[in-house]
Amino acid sequence: MAELSFTDEELKEIDKIKAKFPTAKAATLQVLWVAQRKYGHVEPEVQNLVAETLDLPKSHVHGVASFYTQYYKEEQGKFVLDVCTCLSCQLCGGYEILHHIEDKLGIEAGETTEDGMFTVKEVECLGACGYAPMLQVTNGEYVNNLTKEKVDDLIENLKNGQKPEFESMDMPELEKRNQAAAE
Ligand code: FES
Repeated sequence: MAELSFTDEELKEIDKIKAKFPTAKAATLQVLWVAQRKYGHVEPEVQNLVAETLDLPKSHVHGVASFYTQYYKEEQGKFVLDVCTCLSCQLCGGYEILHHIEDKLGIEAGETTEDGMFTVKEVECLGACGYAPMLQVTNGEYVNNLTKEKVDDLIENLKNGQKPEFESMDMPELEKRNQAAAE
């Protein structure tokens, strides 16, 4: 990989992040996000850039990046589909959904399609058990109450450049919706 660096603009953003925290160490998570947004992953070289920029030991940044699955330690597809197969999702067909995606894309969990479009992962609970089975698209939108048809639509829409709607809802929002439905 060519020598890595942040642009002046990114360094300004990093300075702003640092200013929000009492120590540079506390800014590690957010600066890793800046790095991942730029490079699409935080491979060891990218982690080293973060360490140098924050003047922190490489081992610290490596420890943080390794701990959180949300930081990609290697190159990923354009879209990362995190399919939850934890208990609630599993009971509601999480494995059927995962295997359907694997068959449809011709890859297994942990792999990326040849065209670099999709990476599929099997993940632990994403905290949306009430909407099982569900998946997350690239650390962002949750797509809930999955069916095979819904997955097919999602993949087609992503291929066509359409972003899925974020379907997660918190309790007040859910209550509002239920209220509206009852009126
Ligand atoms: S078990 Fe799937 S979101 Fe919790």
